[in-house]
Amino acid sequence: MKKILLFIFICLLLCGCKKNDNELVMVTEAGFAPYEYYEDGEIVGVDVEIAKEIAKKVNKTLVIKDIYFDSIINELKSGKADFAIAGMSITDERKKEVDFSNEYITSRQIVIVNNNSSIESINEINNKIVAVQLGSVADSHVTKNKITDNIVRQKKYLSMIEDLKANKVDLIIMDELPAKEILKNNSELKILDGYIFEDSYAVAVKKGNTELLNQINEVIDELKKNGKISEYILSYSK
Ligand code: ARG
Repeated sequence: MKKILLFIFICLLLCGCKKNDNELVMVTEAGFAPYEYYEDGEIVGVDVEIAKEIAKKVNKTLVIKDIYFDSIINELKSGKADFAIAGMSITDERKKEVDFSNEYITSRQIVIVNNNSSIESINEINNKIVAVQLGSVADSHVTKNKITDNIVRQKKYLSMIEDLKANKVDLIIMDELPAKEILKNNSELKILDGYIFEDSYAVAVKKGNTELLNQINEVIDELKKNGKISEYILSYSK
C-alpha cells in the first residue's frame, strides 16, 4: 500500500513539473517600463498586453515568468517557455539561436548621464565607465566596438541608475522609452541628444516553432494595423 501511495505521489510530482498544455508560458525581465514592470505586485505593460492577445489567439492561459534578461534565450531553447517578449531587439546573433516574429516597435539606444555630468554629447562616450544591461544590445555594441574597457554589466536597470547617481559609472546606454520612464522619477538625470543606434523589437520563440510564430505574427500585424500598440504605449507611459 505504502509503495502504491509513493508511486502515485511521484507521478503527481512529475506531472507538476511538466508544462501544462493549457498554458502558454511567456518569459521576460520585468524591470523595463513601459514594456514590462511590476504594479501592485503584478507584471503589466505593453508587452504583457501583446502577450495576452497571443494567448487569446491560441486559446491558452497566459503564464508570465520573470527572469534575468541574459537567461531568456536559454529558457526558450530548453523549452521551458513558449515565447519571449521583453522589448527584445532583433539581431543577427540572436537569430542564430531563436526565431523572431515580425517587429512590433522601433527603438533607439540612447545615453543617460547625470545633469551635472561633464559629458555633453553622445560623441564623448569613449573610454568612459559605461553601464549596460547584461546581454542587451547595448552590451554587445559597447563590447564589440571597444567603446571602453570599463563596462559595468548589470542584471537590473535599477542597479545601474543607483550606480550612475552615486557616480560609480559615467553613463548608461539603454532603450529610449524605458530611459524616459526612469527619468520621470529621477530628475537628477538626463538623456543626451541623439542616439547610438536604432533597433526593432520582436517576439522570440524556440527555433522551428513556426506554428506558434505564425499565430504570433497574425496577432502583431493586427495590433499594428488597428493602432493598438501605440495605444498600449500611451497608456503605460504614465
Ligand atoms: N532592447 C534591448 C535588447 O534587446 C534591451 C531589452 C531589455 N529588456 C528587458 N525586459 N530588460 O537587448
